[in-house]
Amino acid sequence: MKLAVVGKGGSGKTTTAAVVARTLARHGTSVVALDCDSNPNLGISLGVGDDETERLIAMRQALDEGEQEHAPGWDDLLDRFGTDAPDGVRLAVVTAIQNPEPGCP
Ligand SMILES: Nc1ncnc2c1ncn2[C@@H]1O[C@H](COP(=O)(O)OP(=O)(O)OP(=O)(O)O)[C@@H](O)[C@H]1O
Ligand SMILES: [Mg+2]
Repeated sequence: MKLAVVGKGGSGKTTTAAVVARTLARHGTSVVALDCDSNPNLGISLGVGDDETERLIAMRQALDEGEQEHAPGWDDLLDRFGTDAPDGVRLAVVTAIQNPEPGCP
């Protein structure tokens, strides 16, 4: 199952995404949370803290500025650019996908 949370500014996207992610994880679903917001603060709502959220944001910035190689695949992306959040959620702050394979990533 893939869920995308979209909406107007300040409408509660980040809060909703975090609550849904943590609730599903608490009920035993394996959850990966991807933050692709231009102001990525899902880490705060998920509970990983300010420092870890900043670290993830800095990694995305390094990718966008060409200082880091994109991950070649899903497992590598989560390993290199992800962090463990409370309740077992795996969080990654992501940027555009280079050369995506067909289908929904
Ligand atoms: N269901 C709710 N009831 C009351 N307040 C809420 C609710 N959901 C979110 N909020 C509050 O509304 C504000 C905006 O929420 P949030 O940051 O989740 O929105 P957003 O859509 O992600 O915003 P942005 O567009 O800036 O990324 C926050 O202060 C949050 O605590
Ligand atoms: Mg938000």
